[in-house]
Amino acid sequence: EKGGYRHFMMKEIAEQPVVLADALRHYLSADRSGLRLPDEVDFTGVSRLVLVACGTANIACQVAKYWFEQLAGLPCDVDIASEFRYRDPVLDSASWAVFVSQSGETADTLAALRHAQDKVARTLAVVNVPTSSMAREAGLALPILAGIEVGVASTKAFTNQLLVLALLALKAGMDRGRLDAAAVAEHLASLNSLPGLMNHAVGLDDEIRVLANDLAKAQDVLFMGRGPMYPLALEGALKLKEISYIHAEGYASGELKHGPIALIDANVPVVVLAPRDALFEKTVSNMQEVMARHGKVVLLSDRAGLAQAGDGVWSGLAMPEVPALLAPILYAVPAQLLAYHTAVAKGTDVDQPRNLAKSVTVE
Ligand code: M6R
Repeated sequence: EKGGYRHFMMKEIAEQPVVLADALRHYLSADRSGLRLPDEVDFTGVSRLVLVACGTANIACQVAKYWFEQLAGLPCDVDIASEFRYRDPVLDSASWAVFVSQSGETADTLAALRHAQDKVARTLAVVNVPTSSMAREAGLALPILAGIEVGVASTKAFTNQLLVLALLALKAGMDRGRLDAAAVAEHLASLNSLPGLMNHAVGLDDEIRVLANDLAKAQDVLFMGRGPMYPLALEGALKLKEISYIHAEGYASGELKHGPIALIDANVPVVVLAPRDALFEKTVSNMQEVMARHGKVVLLSDRAGLAQAGDGVWSGLAMPEVPALLAPILYAVPAQLLAYHTAVAKGTDVDQPRNLAKSVTVE
């Protein structure tokens, strides 16, 4: 069942290029240059989105917020389901509420969906399990088509959630007159190259395994990034703590000097997620502040980024060069591999980490 892999998690990490390609095939036109989403997915007249989820699915929503704002100019709030359901969230009939869940059964997310049901124009479930409660109860369900995910640590579901959310943001951009068909086709062309790029990222496995042997000795690990790489920093930290039990936190790079930099000394590895995007220089300057305090930097960037900023880092991982839209999806792979190999080096139960369940059906 594990297809020759030692753990389901590694099998599922390695499957990402294939399931991502499956979802692209499903949601794009035959010639791959246009979107093929259900007719109900029409953002005309929608004034605001509320994205609600737990854990890694919530982090996918946090990435998507950058996309909905940037590509579609659509106001977008992201909520933790357990908070949303017990607050008095302000909902109105011009808003859509989107619930993202691998299992489609997470108790808090399901309750949040029920809570929003008659208060918004549309409820949309983005789920992996097509027969799940959320898929049945939402006004509209979009499957992410990742296939069965067994490992407690969510991997391929995360990247396919990101893909479907990116496609929704592109559709919103079109419906709201922000993107023309040519601009969408250009974004889709880059998305079509993603399975190949992901293959390359999965191929960093050996290099990451070596690095993870050192990372496994750390007591605390920090992750940082800017823009959509900030939620990725949260995801890298969540994955690492969940399966290796090493204390890890993710920060927006610009927040470091507002407190967390006090933690830095020669014992603290800091993973810097820095594709060469518009914010690269800013992230690098935060990274240098860490290095000035003897923090051990693991820099993830492309070759040119490493050449420009890699002097003095503890370790550098060369990623393929990618358009900004693809970076959070692609950089998820090395973050997952880092957590996986660190956990394997520590000898923890990777697929079934202590105290955790695959599907949290009680609140
Ligand atoms: O099934 P769901 O996507 O609703 O699950 C949400 C979280 O419980 C889940 O993502 C959890 O955070 C993962 N174990 C993280 O790897």
